[in-house]
Amino acid sequence: MNEALQTYLKDIQFSGDLKKDIEAFFAAYEDDETLGHTLSVASEAKRVATLYGADPVKAEQAALLHDISNVVPVAEMLDLAKKLSIEIMDEEYTYGRIVHQKLSKAMAREIFNITDQEILDAIECHTTLKSEASLMDKVLFISDKISWKLPGDHQYLLDARYKVDEMKLNEGVLIYLNQVWENRSKLKLIHPWLIQARAELMSTFPELETERFLLRQITHDNANDIFQTFSLDEVTKYYDVESFTNIEQAEKLIQTWHQRFENKQAIRWGITLKSDNRVVGTCGFHGWAKNHHKAAIGYELTPQFWRQGVMTEVLEKIMEYGFDTLELNRIEAFVEPENVGSRRVLEKVGFQAEGLLKDNYYWKNRFVDNVIYALIKKDFKKMTR
Ligand SMILES: [Fe+2]
Ligand SMILES: [Fe+2]
Repeated sequence: MNEALQTYLKDIQFSGDLKKDIEAFFAAYEDDETLGHTLSVASEAKRVATLYGADPVKAEQAALLHDISNVVPVAEMLDLAKKLSIEIMDEEYTYGRIVHQKLSKAMAREIFNITDQEILDAIECHTTLKSEASLMDKVLFISDKISWKLPGDHQYLLDARYKVDEMKLNEGVLIYLNQVWENRSKLKLIHPWLIQARAELMSTFPELETERFLLRQITHDNANDIFQTFSLDEVTKYYDVESFTNIEQAEKLIQTWHQRFENKQAIRWGITLKSDNRVVGTCGFHGWAKNHHKAAIGYELTPQFWRQGVMTEVLEKIMEYGFDTLELNRIEAFVEPENVGSRRVLEKVGFQAEGLLKDNYYWKNRFVDNVIYALIKKDFKKMTR
């Protein structure tokens, strides 16, 4: 064992039973608080690992060990890390406590003889996560967060927990990372690993599922489906596009959607039948003004599926994603007054008409009025909870 760690050993008699040894370890430091937290993270990690098909035994072990470096006074953490030849990033000097995740890894290896890389890696990034995080990394990371008993109302932790339980681990993780990101001006440090992990999760196209449909990225293989829909006048009637006359137009549209997603300007899902993977419509957000937490929605559906509650089912799902994961506060929709079908869909989902925008745009040789609809996050939450 590295000499620098000897002083932290006290006179603990290790039994080889990790849970008992952890209890003895924190007892020697009279640190009931960290022990309590550790045990709740351990049972949560075991549960989440089982849910997602990760090894529950390893997850529990990683959780039992994740905060063992809490026994090291914060003022000594950077020093100890140096003595253990742990690589310290420049940013970590600004907030020494952040190295506790790396210290816990070293202590797990040196004091508790853990050699399993999956466990050690998960401990090492339990506070910040990192890019290319493994399932085990995410399991420990999110279990640590959703086990916290923080005073007051922390809706984002409840939201993250819902996502985890709904089998949407990445979305749950992203809710937490977004919360940190939003509060970055108040924090001493936002760790580069966390920034990378968040960027990576944000750039993966999010697949969503409703009862009848899978919402996924539209690929060039779907050009024919898109063409079929957009070539119909009844679909494009209220659209600012002419009906398509050739498949290249569909390919170009798909290309545009991809580019806008990559540039984080918009997101467009293909509404896909679970049975045969056919794209029967699309929906998504555009006009995304991140600083104002708002975006507009757009959608269309091939007529064969009209009047079957498809758009209501799909919009409810993407609203939830918009409010929770994209952190939208206001979602707008612009509809021509006579587009009764679309207005009915919006109203069913909870949108409220706010007024008439006269001559809002010029299209097909005439000025077109729009009714502006909006749905605000707190009203949506009231409806769905
Ligand atoms: Fe921690
Ligand atoms: Fe923790």
